[in-house]
Amino acid sequence: MSRLRHRDTPCDEFRRLARRVSLLIAAEAARDLELASVDIDTPLETTRAQRLANRVVAVPVLRAGLGMLDAFLELMPAAQVGYFGLERNEETGVARRYYEKVPRDLGGAVVFLLDPMLATGGSAAHAIEGLRGFGALGVRLLSIVAAPEGVRHLEAEAPDVHVYTAALDRELNDKRYIVPGLGDFGDRLYGT
Ligand code: PRP
Ligand code: URA
Repeated sequence: MSRLRHRDTPCDEFRRLARRVSLLIAAEAARDLELASVDIDTPLETTRAQRLANRVVAVPVLRAGLGMLDAFLELMPAAQVGYFGLERNEETGVARRYYEKVPRDLGGAVVFLLDPMLATGGSAAHAIEGLRGFGALGVRLLSIVAAPEGVRHLEAEAPDVHVYTAALDRELNDKRYIVPGLGDFGDRLYGT
């Protein structure tokens, strides 16, 4: 995390590190997924094996969440993928949805919402509300850095959603950035 946070870390290294930490978070978040037994034929005999019992859907929040998607798909290559485009208003901190393409009928699916920064929690709460609209019940939020304010917001708005994060930071500053944080994740990922 120290190189990911460091202000001088260049964009290519930032992407690599974001991918690596995302893989670890995804593995942790998938640890207790339900499994189903199936019969398979090895070259020698038939045996019982296990596969995931439920459909898995990954929903990265644009833009920053795209930095976690490759790692997630490395772990869950058969996952379906949906997208929410959300942007925080710099003045008000309120997230606006500008794009949405999510598989319908999410009931029965385990949905992994990918958004590396959980700051006020407004964006995540907005995305979760959208996912609920498509029937999602089991939602897991994968973040890289979270603020206590965002965690409390989600505990109040979506208490059934499990949050997996690599770091719980101190607080938000007066511009609603996470401190110590790592700055604007989307800008660092895309060099903007
Ligand atoms: C960032 C981040 C989250 C959001 C978190 O996105 O990726 O989606 O802020 O803040 P919140 O918890 O206060 O809502 P941003 O709006 O900067 O868009 P970007 O990913 O396109 O840069
Ligand atoms: N979004 C970011 O990218 N960084 C923050 O610190 C807060 C929101």
